Amino acid sequence: MDKKIIIVIIIILIIILGIVAVVFLQNNNTNTLNTNEQNSNRESSNMNNQNLQVIENESKNMDNNTETTARSAVIYFSATGTTKNVAETISQAIDSDIIEIIPKEKYTSEDLSYNNDNCRANQEQNNENARPEIENTINIDDYDTIYLGYPIWWGTAPKIILSLLDSYNFNGKTVIPFCTSGSTGISQSESDLKKYSSNINWLKGRRFNSSVTKDEITKWIEELEL
Ligand SMILES: Cc1cc2nc3c(=O)[nH]c(=O)nc-3n(C[C@H](O)[C@H](O)[C@H](O)COP(=O)(O)O)c2cc1C
Repeated sequence: MDKKIIIVIIIILIIILGIVAVVFLQNNNTNTLNTNEQNSNRESSNMNNQNLQVIENESKNMDNNTETTARSAVIYFSATGTTKNVAETISQAIDSDIIEIIPKEKYTSEDLSYNNDNCRANQEQNNENARPEIENTINIDDYDTIYLGYPIWWGTAPKIILSLLDSYNFNGKTVIPFCTSGSTGISQSESDLKKYSSNINWLKGRRFNSSVTKDEITKWIEELEL
């Protein structure tokens, strides 16, 4: 064969080998890049998972905190609606649950006509052992602080309030009494209740007019320094 032809063939072979080598190296680089990309994707997905875990834990902690945060409720008895009005204003001011103490046997206007010595309300107030039954169940355990409302009957709290104190475990709870009345203040009922349930952390109570405003309630609660 002609020497020149052999040289040309060798050159062509070298060029082909060169092209093959370049293609091979490029493929290799792409694979490496892909592997790196996959690794980095995996890492970023791990990081995302870790971040999600942290967020999940934080939200669990927040949930736990909510569960352990002290909760307040307004619990009240009202025969003719005056104490109910005040109870609703307090509950709105502090954004709390509100629970009515419902007597099993409702009080009729006859029951409440206190000018009649024999009316049911007077008989109950004169009977040390009277404990009128409560119709509804009240989940006392859900609350640490209770605003306890009632009308004044013959200077003190109606006997149904004692029924409430007898029915549930108030141990260690903070209770703030409030009342409505024709004119009598809260102090006699406060000391009677304190004497009856000394296991309760009683805070200073207050008598309200039915027209009490949310602002007045807010100011009162600030002064309580709960
Ligand atoms: C049996 C009975 C006794 C009451 N005794 C008093 C009292 O000693 N002093 C007073 O100021 N008001 C007295 N009142 C008036 C109530 O305390 C007052 O009307 C109260 O705001 C009613 O609240 P209520 O609508 O939530 O039941 C008495 C009312 C009743 C029915």
